[in-house]
Amino acid sequence: MSDIKNVEYGLEKIFEGAQDFLPLLGTDYVEFIVGNAKQAAHFYKTAFGFQSHAYKGLETGCKEFASYVLKQDKIRIVLTTPLTEDSWMNKHIAKHGDGVKVVALWVDDAKKSWEETTKRGAKSYMEPIVEKDEHGEVVRAGIYTYGETVHMFVERKNYTGVFLPGYEKWESDYNPEPVGLKFIDHMVGNVGWNEMNTWVKFYEDVMGFVNFLSFDDKQITTEYSALMSKVMSNGNGRIKFPINEPAEGKKKSQIEEYIDFYNGPGVQHIAVATNDIIDTVAKMRARGIEFLSTPPEEYYKAVPGRLQEHNHELGEDIEKLKSLGIMIDADEEGYLLQIFTKPIEDRPTLFFEIIQRMGARGFGAGNFKALFESIEREQEKRGTL
Ligand code: FE2
Repeated sequence: MSDIKNVEYGLEKIFEGAQDFLPLLGTDYVEFIVGNAKQAAHFYKTAFGFQSHAYKGLETGCKEFASYVLKQDKIRIVLTTPLTEDSWMNKHIAKHGDGVKVVALWVDDAKKSWEETTKRGAKSYMEPIVEKDEHGEVVRAGIYTYGETVHMFVERKNYTGVFLPGYEKWESDYNPEPVGLKFIDHMVGNVGWNEMNTWVKFYEDVMGFVNFLSFDDKQITTEYSALMSKVMSNGNGRIKFPINEPAEGKKKSQIEEYIDFYNGPGVQHIAVATNDIIDTVAKMRARGIEFLSTPPEEYYKAVPGRLQEHNHELGEDIEKLKSLGIMIDADEEGYLLQIFTKPIEDRPTLFFEIIQRMGARGFGAGNFKALFESIEREQEKRGTL
């Protein structure tokens, strides 16, 4: 493995075991199917600082659904809701609640990406289609991954429009300030019992990814519950998909709780990067985002021992981190700061992570115990532990 490439997409790294039949340039967009996209868009603007970007719906001539595209730095999310009784999306919402349907990947050649992956065993979601308007053309094609989740390949090199053909620029009079979210660091999928390795193999064989970190149920455990996780990355390290499965414990794993409420595998959390986590989290808290409860005093007492030579870099910020409930972990390469929101819908399914990497490429393994104990306190309240 070679050295750090650049920090534009976090800490890039070239994984030599990865296959190059599917070059990915980055995450293109993440699409959620929701019950009320207009209200969801207001929430993501207000609480997360996303900016109005593009829109498709009745006013643009689309009678089947309404889609709001929001942007913050490199992150693009799409909130889509059905407008008709016979839409497939109604069933999706009834089954899963609001959730992530599409994790779209930016590619140079969407048709080739679809051909290479379906040839290797991917189930097709959408054959390559070319969409055009006065700004050029976009080619898209899709394959299924775990559950009903989809990877869409998006080729936009011949397009200059705002998002995709059919979308118009969304001008709004309501524009809350961004909170400093920069790009998607990783997106985690929850799968069922004994399914993790199936999906690890899918990302290896079908997508050419490598498994570069693994955590077993001895590492991710508390007194009551456990899970297992393997982190998959594409060749340039820009796309990282950890896959979790539940493990046996005295009480119910948070992964099992997710699977129960989502009715199957799906996206568990989206980790977004910031360059100033203290500022970002302070703003999000002020705007009404609820985070998991602050780790106990003993947790922060143990931080200097874990940080070692990085202690002086944090300086007096440690008190601010503590007051905001931000967690700190270190590995051989540096340290990272992270915090997790509570689920952002009524079902205990999708949540967000805010992460600031200071050299560390890991996922906060040193925080797992404190984090899961905090999640268990929430499960307890929900009666699902
Ligand atoms: Fe994460």
